Amino acid sequence: MTSYSFLRAAFSVIFAVTYVFANDTLSFPQGFLLGTATSAYQIEGGWNINGKGESVWDRWTHDNPNLILDHSNGDVACDSYHKYKEDVQLLKDMEVDFYRFSVSWTRILPTGYPNVINQDGINYYKNLINELLANNIEPFITLYHWDHPEYLDKMGGWTNSLMVEWISNYARVVFKELGPKVKYFTTINEPADVCQGVATDKVAPGKNLGSPGKYLCMHNILKAHAKIYHIYQTEFRKQQKGQVGIVISCPGAFPKTPNDTAAVDAIFQFVCGWVAHPIFSKTGDYPEIIKAHIADNSKLDGYPASLLPTFSPKWVQYIKGSADFFGLNHYTSKLVETVPRVEGERWYDYSGVKQTIDPSWPKSAADWLRVVPDGLRQVINLISKQYDRPPIFVMENGFADECCTSDSSRISYLRSYMKAMLSAIYEDGCNVKSYTAWSLLDNFEWADGYKVRFGLVNVDFTNPNRTRTPKLSMNWYKTVIKTRRIDSIFESPDVVNIP
Ligand code: GAL
Repeated sequence: MTSYSFLRAAFSVIFAVTYVFANDTLSFPQGFLLGTATSAYQIEGGWNINGKGESVWDRWTHDNPNLILDHSNGDVACDSYHKYKEDVQLLKDMEVDFYRFSVSWTRILPTGYPNVINQDGINYYKNLINELLANNIEPFITLYHWDHPEYLDKMGGWTNSLMVEWISNYARVVFKELGPKVKYFTTINEPADVCQGVATDKVAPGKNLGSPGKYLCMHNILKAHAKIYHIYQTEFRKQQKGQVGIVISCPGAFPKTPNDTAAVDAIFQFVCGWVAHPIFSKTGDYPEIIKAHIADNSKLDGYPASLLPTFSPKWVQYIKGSADFFGLNHYTSKLVETVPRVEGERWYDYSGVKQTIDPSWPKSAADWLRVVPDGLRQVINLISKQYDRPPIFVMENGFADECCTSDSSRISYLRSYMKAMLSAIYEDGCNVKSYTAWSLLDNFEWADGYKVRFGLVNVDFTNPNRTRTPKLSMNWYKTVIKTRRIDSIFESPDVVNIP
């Protein structure tokens, strides 16, 4: 028995015993944190006021309205720059334990560098934090949720290794100014998605550099994350006593044909392990399968060396272990199948795994999001198994629709995913510490503009006041938080139960 399986067995017994005593797998464990989340560009607005500099998303939406479903942008968004007190009142009404929000780099460092510190930006976040704390809500900061300075992007952004220094200097300012009152930080939200903006021309900054740019981007992101973690460790942790993690998007994967477990393993490594393995595994560095596939296929495609950059042993050590928790974003799953390589044909980003959707999975308003609650249980288990049971903070999970405050499908989705997560905790012994519903508000949903909605609270984007109206799901979540249970507490005749 490996030490992992021994530990796993031991924890399963402990949790099974807890279950027998409590006889309740629909309650959250003691100390479990429940919250909700947003990000700066998606809600703040105030894109160019009071000293804020331009971010890549400002530039992208202004230059490419045709690439946003409703031709909109985040210039005003939910206007949370002005209405943050109202947002906090909604959070207070729900009695969330924490609120995850992101800091806009260019609101506090308009040039991108710390040569100019915009006091108005610092004050905005200090006021928000004070307002949260005054209402018993723990602030949970994301340092970077995709909106880096346009100026730095012109100098290469994530393809320039100096980005590691630039973002570290920004992080240091945030730790210094906001850290004294904040216990939880995450560095970078969904690195693989950030690198889509380098690989393609569909989302900001739309560099369209394909795979070479994508791998380079991730290489710099992993170094940047580790550097930020070590800055906190050496300069701030002693006084501030907080925790620093990273947020990784890990979708579920189910084999198209029952025996194709290789496809499930491979896609986990290519999507989730690409980011997680260098940080959370015992050995560090990229997963072996990624190194092998990319080396082989780069050769077949005529490149002189692997397109995957190499970490020096020093960097491997520096990145390994650079997180206090595993921040997990999870929304949906894919059907996967192993595809043999045919020369000259696209080979699924060198992963060799084709991803599709099972048409029987319930739909949402976002074409990429189908309802597959078991996927959450699966990835929590995979993460626990691969990385020796790290503390997992579920940092985003949510459902897309297009309208309405009567959002019974959202309630069904949230309840079914929470239930799957609780099974991972109680039945599988995984170490999950928090759950975060995405999102507090309907907001600017990137390329989907305001058409696709994720909020627990409806926002009227046609009204200059950006009026907020709680949805049914907000009231449901409020009851969940109060009772710390997910069943029998809120019944609505039109809530469709997803098994
Ligand atoms: C995540 C992202 C969020 C939000 C969500 C729903 O990938 O971090 O900002 O947009 O997806 O699409």
